[in-house]
Amino acid sequence: MVEWRNLPGTVVLAHRGAAHAAPENTLAAFALALSEGADGIEFDVHRTADGHLVVLHDEVVDRTTNGFGPVSQMTLEQVRSLDAGSWFDPRFAGEKVPLLEEVLELARGHLLVDIELKTSGIEAQVVETVRKFRMAPSVLISSFSREAISAVKEIAPEIAVGLLSLHGDPSEALSLGVQVFLPSVGVLSKDCVESCHRQGISVVTWTILTEQDAREAIRLGVEGIIADDPVMARRALEEERNR
Ligand code: G3P
Ligand code: CA
Repeated sequence: MVEWRNLPGTVVLAHRGAAHAAPENTLAAFALALSEGADGIEFDVHRTADGHLVVLHDEVVDRTTNGFGPVSQMTLEQVRSLDAGSWFDPRFAGEKVPLLEEVLELARGHLLVDIELKTSGIEAQVVETVRKFRMAPSVLISSFSREAISAVKEIAPEIAVGLLSLHGDPSEALSLGVQVFLPSVGVLSKDCVESCHRQGISVVTWTILTEQDAREAIRLGVEGIIADDPVMARRALEEERNR
């Protein structure tokens, strides 16, 4: 099983699951990522009003379910009553907003996991859940928030952490002491990758939507690419290996 602290070359992570062909952040999308040959999955976590960790991108359920309002003000029962699949395609009607535990169960032993913290204050509960599943080596906890990353480092030094970035300057990542720097693909550069590698930090870039972006990132020597379509990303990787 691949581990975050010992990545073998470039890994392919399915963004919000295989979001190109299934409703994002659902068990269907994560199962598809597995069957399409992704090395791992990326997804986003929030907490319900009654304290359950669920996998959802937005703060509100409006875009990806048939409900509306902030997930943080809904109970788990309310969240689970929503249809998280029909908005994408009627074939996915009845798909639920998954619990973090369900996604970890699906991934355990098969997939690397990148848990993006979209909100602060849930760090300890996320760590507790990862520990419950004994998945620390295969889990990365990532965030745009320095505070969230520092909190995870403090609570769980055994879990790798990653800083997300929209500007591509790795100095913050270096000072924070993360294992992974995650610049958006639009700001990825040779300097950025080399600077991270000099400090022993892996680089994972997002969100790869085209084969050309995948190829360019792979040529720069990144350790991971986060793509909506893992098949496309895998094809680019194979072609670059055979060049
Ligand atoms: O993990 C990188 C990427 O997922 C961050 O952007 O908006 O898709 O969560 P977003
Ligand atoms: Ca994300």
